[in-house]
Amino acid sequence: MRMNTDKKRPTVVAGNWKMNLLPDQAQQLMLSIVPAVQPQSMVIIAAPSIYLQSLHEDFGESVFIAAQNCSDKDSGAFTGEISASMLNAIGVEFCLVGHSERRSLYQETDDVVRWKVDACLKNEVNPIFCCGETLDERKSEQHFHVVQHQIEAALFQLSLDQVLKVIIAYEPVWAIGTGVTASSSEAQEMHAHIRNVIREKFGADVAESILILYGGSVNAMNCAELFACKDVDGGLVGGASLKADEFKVIMSQATAIPA
Ligand code: PGA
Repeated sequence: MRMNTDKKRPTVVAGNWKMNLLPDQAQQLMLSIVPAVQPQSMVIIAAPSIYLQSLHEDFGESVFIAAQNCSDKDSGAFTGEISASMLNAIGVEFCLVGHSERRSLYQETDDVVRWKVDACLKNEVNPIFCCGETLDERKSEQHFHVVQHQIEAALFQLSLDQVLKVIIAYEPVWAIGTGVTASSSEAQEMHAHIRNVIREKFGADVAESILILYGGSVNAMNCAELFACKDVDGGLVGGASLKADEFKVIMSQATAIPA
């Protein structure tokens, strides 16, 4: 039995493939998981850019396809970059923005993250905005402050209509790819804090509607307990999204947007 049926918000399961899978492997994985997607349930696959168009064409009726990154610029001499308008033009509806790997490995600052959020919204691509503290920040008890600051820096310029198009993904950096998951109480505590930050800026209606996913070593064993938390509206899943059987178990938690 699913434990979260009293929630007004859907449970969203988003897979983040990162820079993995060759074309045949990507196709095989999709052919394996797509038949298990429950009708209307919110499953999102964030794939390498080179696969986005074909994935959208082949599987876009069953799952939402997301990019993992986009440029903050509209167009021009930016070799190697992909714009949000290009994503929109090929039917991509979501884009990860501010993932901790982008922040740490590619020096994406809070300003860059905000510009990318704005570029997505301007081009009708829904940002999946990632935030989360490092282990040092948690140990020194700055985690609530750090996450609040990331949200203020990237989302507080938005209108009410715009912010409702954003999905927030709380991903503690110490839990990403490490096998160490936040406990459900740690996740719930931070998600409640995030919802409160949103409530204070955008009001109760937005706060009750906005989706806040948890990410960081989500797997088939821990997903039900994490997603059952009051303020956890699903997960952003890295490593486990590459394993068909495991991801199917996690996907079985996804629910449809309530009518
Ligand atoms: P993980 O990655 O599930 O492998 O920890 C999550 C993410 O980086 O989105």
